[in-house]
This record gives sequence, structure tokens and C-alpha cells, in this order.
Amino acid sequence: MFTLIPEEIDNYCEEHTSDESEILYRLNRETHLKVLRPRMLSGKLQGTFLAMISRLLKPKAILEIGTYTGYSALCLAEGLQSDGVLHTIEIEEELENIITKHFSQSPYDQQLTLHIGDANLLIDQLNLEWDLVFMDAEKKEYIQYYSKVLPKLKKGGFILVDNVLWSGKVVQDIAPNDHETIAITQFNHFVQNDSRVRNMILPFRDGMMLIEKL
Ligand SMILES: C[S@@+](CC[C@H](N)C(=O)[O-])C[C@H]1O[C@@H](n2cnc3c(N)ncnc32)[C@H](O)[C@@H]1O
Repeated sequence: MFTLIPEEIDNYCEEHTSDESEILYRLNRETHLKVLRPRMLSGKLQGTFLAMISRLLKPKAILEIGTYTGYSALCLAEGLQSDGVLHTIEIEEELENIITKHFSQSPYDQQLTLHIGDANLLIDQLNLEWDLVFMDAEKKEYIQYYSKVLPKLKKGGFILVDNVLWSGKVVQDIAPNDHETIAITQFNHFVQNDSRVRNMILPFRDGMMLIEKL
């Protein structure tokens, strides 16, 4: 995964971050051995950040958009209340086996629900009020996900959005055919001008936006 900070600083941060649990270590390894594009997985540093945010918020309902192999979902689940639930949406059917295999081995198995399908359709079908949302699917659809999910986010709830600095391309000259970078800059601008929320960008990994509903 591209990182905005120098590699040696990134390595230092990793070395001074608690070890992954056994199940996260196995999922990380299996993803790198068997699944295409393993750099999409959150990994130890970002995963620990997500788990800590979740433990701070103690959410009752978490929505994740973009499961991939389930690493970030397992991290986010660490902060769930004992009767809390996490719903996660993934469009790629072939990822279902690796996701469910690791979910079933986790202590949160009963609290996790995987939905295979397009988040654009499925978000509307989930009638829950969310405390925490993690957006990490198709970058060109971030404004759609956000617009659908914000009305269902509790007041004081948080949306975390990955890749909002897109390898730093958001501050460079953007080619007219670079649709992903254009979409991300439009998303960042949209949130910045949304009076319903308070927001900040953490220049961490590929850029993470934290959005709090007012
Ligand atoms: C960056 S990966 C997610 C990584 C994962 N959250 C993690 O941190 O380990 C993005 C995932 O979103 C999925 N995705 C893309 N478009 C989607 C959509 N419209 N609905 C649901 N999932 C989608 C992709 O198939 C991919 O697995």
C-alpha cells in the first residue's frame, strides 16, 4: 500500500504498534498468498487504528462498505457492545469463502453479517441506525454512499473514509480522464461544505477522513 509518509517512519510506527491477533495475522497472510490485490487489506497499523476508534466509541451498530477479505471488519468488531452488530457489504462473490471462514473463527461471529452485493443497492435495504460507518469500496461512488448513509447515522456518530488523499494525487494536476482522483476531490469538497457534519483528514496511510454527524 502506498504511504504518504517516508517508509522508515511508517516501519517505525508499525514496529511500535501492538501485534495483530492470531486470527488477523492468519487472514493477512492468507490474503497475501491467495487473493488478488492484497494491498487493499487495511493491515496492522490501520487495523489497530480502526479497532481503537471502535473501542472508544463502543458502537451498537457498525456498517462497513467494502469488506474485501474481512480484515477491517474484524478490527472494527473489537469495539462492539456485547449485543452490537456489524454489517459489511462486498460486491465480489468469490471473496465470500475467505471472509466467512475467518468470521466463523472469530469471537464476534454471531455479531457479523456479510452481504454480498452492490452497496449502492444494499445500503438502503438495511434498516438500522448506525453509530459507526467505514467507507472503503469504490472511490467513484463515495458521494452516493455518503448521501445514503448520513441520514441513517446517529447524531454524534462517525463515518471513517479511507483513501481520501489517493496517493497524494488530490493536490497534483489531475488529468481529465483520472476519474477516481476527480471523484475523491469532489467527495472531499462535498463533505467540507456539508453543514451537517464536522470533518478532518488524517494524513495517515492513504488519507483517512473522520466525519462526525452534528
Ligand atoms: C479497499 S477494498 C476493502 C478493504 C477492506 N475494507 C480492508 O480494509 O481490509 C475495497 C472493496 O470494495 C469492494 N467494492 C467495490 N465496489 C463495491 C460496491 N459497489 N459494493 C460493495 N463492495 C464494493 C471491492 O470488491 C473490494 O473488495
